[in-house]
Amino acid sequence: MTTVTKRIVVLAGDGIGPEVTAAATHVLKDCAAEFSHHFEFIEMPFGGAAIDRCGAPLTAETLEACRAADAILLGAVGGPRWDALPLEKRPESGLLGLRKQLGLYINVRPIRVRPALLDVSALKPERARGVDLEIVRELAGGIYFGEHRSEGTNGNSRASDLEVYTAPEIERVAQFAFERAERRGNHVTSIDKANVLASSVLWRRVVTSVGAAHPGVKLDHMYVDNAALQVVLAPKQFDVIVTSNMFGDILSDGAAGAAGSLGLIPSMSWGLGPSLYEPIHGSAPSLAGRDVACPIGAISSAAMLLRESFGLHTEANAIEHALDRVLDHGIRTQDLAAPDSTVVGCTAFTSRVRDALQENFSHFERYGWGV
Ligand code: NAD
Ligand code: IPM
Ligand code: MN
Repeated sequence: MTTVTKRIVVLAGDGIGPEVTAAATHVLKDCAAEFSHHFEFIEMPFGGAAIDRCGAPLTAETLEACRAADAILLGAVGGPRWDALPLEKRPESGLLGLRKQLGLYINVRPIRVRPALLDVSALKPERARGVDLEIVRELAGGIYFGEHRSEGTNGNSRASDLEVYTAPEIERVAQFAFERAERRGNHVTSIDKANVLASSVLWRRVVTSVGAAHPGVKLDHMYVDNAALQVVLAPKQFDVIVTSNMFGDILSDGAAGAAGSLGLIPSMSWGLGPSLYEPIHGSAPSLAGRDVACPIGAISSAAMLLRESFGLHTEANAIEHALDRVLDHGIRTQDLAAPDSTVVGCTAFTSRVRDALQENFSHFERYGWGV
């Protein structure tokens, strides 16, 4: 086996962020020890924690460390403590700034229903079983980055946010989605609001022209209101979904209901700079500090990091396999609780995953890698 030397920047952030990133970091360290990789972990302040310590959510030092990283692992940012700040000073603006500064213009959110969790899916088993889709969300443009204006006072107040897309911005995310589909089910569904929005008319036109260069991939277009229905009514129809920044944000939380909890879903933000991996959930203030958060989305993000940034497929598979084994034994965090399950905290769940990982390793050692 080849060993690798890599630098991973860890941005724990706020709320449950530090709890779930600790879980993911443990699992990465276990893989490094088993396979003799050298992972250097560099923790940097980010989000609300960085506002409190350094006066800003994204400091020059944190940005520099991220630029120099081979990959970045993030927890979540934000929380009521900082909600009264103006938008541009809030923890969330640090995250938007980091994505923008690193040129991370794509966000991949895989939604998979784990067989052991069929009972907690928000959907009937026959609708949920076998759901395996990827949302490719545009991440560096759209209404998030268009002009935001607030003017006037009281009765005369007025505010606006501008949704702007250029053809090249749409083209690069579409290109990525088609290539992703070529390695999966050869089907792209592009989601927009082209019956109302000019930016969506352009979106549809550009995606269609990119699709023409990928004749092996079936392309469908769907309006976002219908898509919100279809992700819960018939999610198996989807392979790769490609959509704008805002629609992707909303649809992915909705689709997480099919998997059973927001705590389950990992993501990769990809583009010009080092890729960033994070669960799609937020800082879950009501769970913070109680050791009850589900670490699966974060641990699965670590697996995604190994696979996508370092090409370490055996290690990534071992982590995913360990997660499934623990769930097969009915061990769950409280968000996944069901009558026959054993509910444990974030730390205890992570320990079980690490034990299962060691079992995988000894199995591999006995029967050979690549099994
Ligand atoms: P949230 O994702 O934090 O929570 C939504 C719901 O999901 C809550 O019921 C929460 O308890 C549950 N949940 C989330 N993660 C969970 C986990 N790992 N295990 C079990 N249950 C989990 O979203 P919110 O409440 O809308 O936002 C809270 C804060 O997080 C806000 O400040 C928001 O801006 C921020 N946020 C940050 C990110 C990010 O950093 N990427 C993402 C979303 C929201
Ligand atoms: C996410 C979050 C962020 C987003 C916020 C916190 C800026 O909701 O990563 O899904 O909207 O992109
Ligand atoms: Mn979101």
